[in-house]
Amino acid sequence: MAVTTTTHTQDLLRRLGVEDDNPGAFDGSWIETRGERIESVNPATGEVLAAVRSAGPEDYERVARAAVAAFGAWREWPAPKRGEVVRQLGDELRRHKGDLGALVSLEAGKIRSEGLGEVQEMIDMCDLAVGMSRQLYGKAMHSERPRHRMYEQWHPLGPVGIITAFNFPVAVWAWNAAVAAACGDSMIWKPSHETPLTALAVTRIAARVLEANDAPAIFGLVVADREVGQLMTADRRLPLVSATGSVTMGKAVGRAVADRVGRSLLELGGNNGVVVTESADMDLALRAVLFAAFGTAGQRCTTARRLFLQRGIAAEMKERLVKAARSIPIGDPMAEGVMMGPLINRKAVDTMMSALETIREQGGEVLCGGKRLDRPGFFVEPTVVAAEVQMPITCEETFAPILYVFEFDDLDEAIAAHNAVPQGLSSAIFTLNVREAERFLAATGSDCGIANVNIATSGAEIGGAFGGEKETGGGREAGSDSWKIYMRRQTCTINWGTEMPLAQGVEFDVGA
Ligand code: UN1
Repeated sequence: MAVTTTTHTQDLLRRLGVEDDNPGAFDGSWIETRGERIESVNPATGEVLAAVRSAGPEDYERVARAAVAAFGAWREWPAPKRGEVVRQLGDELRRHKGDLGALVSLEAGKIRSEGLGEVQEMIDMCDLAVGMSRQLYGKAMHSERPRHRMYEQWHPLGPVGIITAFNFPVAVWAWNAAVAAACGDSMIWKPSHETPLTALAVTRIAARVLEANDAPAIFGLVVADREVGQLMTADRRLPLVSATGSVTMGKAVGRAVADRVGRSLLELGGNNGVVVTESADMDLALRAVLFAAFGTAGQRCTTARRLFLQRGIAAEMKERLVKAARSIPIGDPMAEGVMMGPLINRKAVDTMMSALETIREQGGEVLCGGKRLDRPGFFVEPTVVAAEVQMPITCEETFAPILYVFEFDDLDEAIAAHNAVPQGLSSAIFTLNVREAERFLAATGSDCGIANVNIATSGAEIGGAFGGEKETGGGREAGSDSWKIYMRRQTCTINWGTEMPLAQGVEFDVGA
């Protein structure tokens, strides 16, 4: 496919309702925001795609009030009727998958199939949430008291704050929004500054679906800076704030929300490890690690950043890995055959370069890559580093395509090293030995929220709960019972008899 021309890009943006200059807040209508002009830059070319005026505190206040009002009405819609609206949202996303996927590629720099995959992830989330809308189960219990009935029920929670990152600019909104909508919540989305256009396009699509159903405006949006973010996290009207991004950001969000005893759902950094033992299928391991380490240019929270190779296969694996990494086609993410696009911005390239300096200072050896590419845009080489577990930098998440390779002798040692980082998102082992696989999955094995066998760390399906432990934040989105965090749980005890027995055998007869 030819490189997208400016005219093509403009046509695409117009089809998605994006103008050269756009308002940055939506509360059911677009608000004429007057904040800083944010330019959305195509990281593959450096060209400005379009601009958005960011929302200020007064815009936020408008959106928050609208979210409260929308919640008041939406919570009274029966859950399966809400699910029907979410089903239609999924259908609209299907209709716009090509365009929206292309916009993800243009704005976030993802290769074409990943841009499309991201929209597919939204569609899948809608499908899942439609099903959930008929399965928001509470349990019925047996009371210890005669002629009493007990059950629990789940009610809509309230307006939800959703803070998303550039690397999954729309899928992470859908993880939250599809489920929250089915649960009866309204929401306020604060997307990344790097990717406001995808957020505008999605909000336009979602708003049309609401209008067609005469549904309240539950999908609010504020493209805004940290100040508005702080208003949001401190806002008692938002019982839940879901935030995806760095550990630093998540700690600040978590603290602010905890300060008002609110609920937060944190999806923070990963520093994901893959263990390959001598019994592994090497071809499989190699292919999987290449995607996990260098897919999305190393900018997934699930990216494999640490590779543990058992001594006997280490030399061969390293050699094959380096050869394959060198052959990855880098370039315009919209062009056919390209497997690795750019980093999101210049700062990300600088951060990678300074991490490489630190790596060298700490004794790491760069086996391949390590350079920025001399061309427009923010391109870097996939980088493999021979490292030691003692190197402090290997405990940090550098959001770039750098893969640390370690060697180990026995599996216990590898698992200990694997778990010795502050993050705990995703993990994997490659082995054909059932004992090794089970050892990795046991309570004494991987300490992560996701643990895989013979598939690598990234590219999780939405059917499973997604999230991680330790500094990753403990939140879970998508999958199984993730809906519970978007609802409030209520235990109900009903006395249908004529006596007033007390629980635990307590007596309190005052002869009234
Ligand atoms: C993220 O990087 O923030 O498992 C999310 C994956 C994707 C989600 C990544 N489904 O890689």
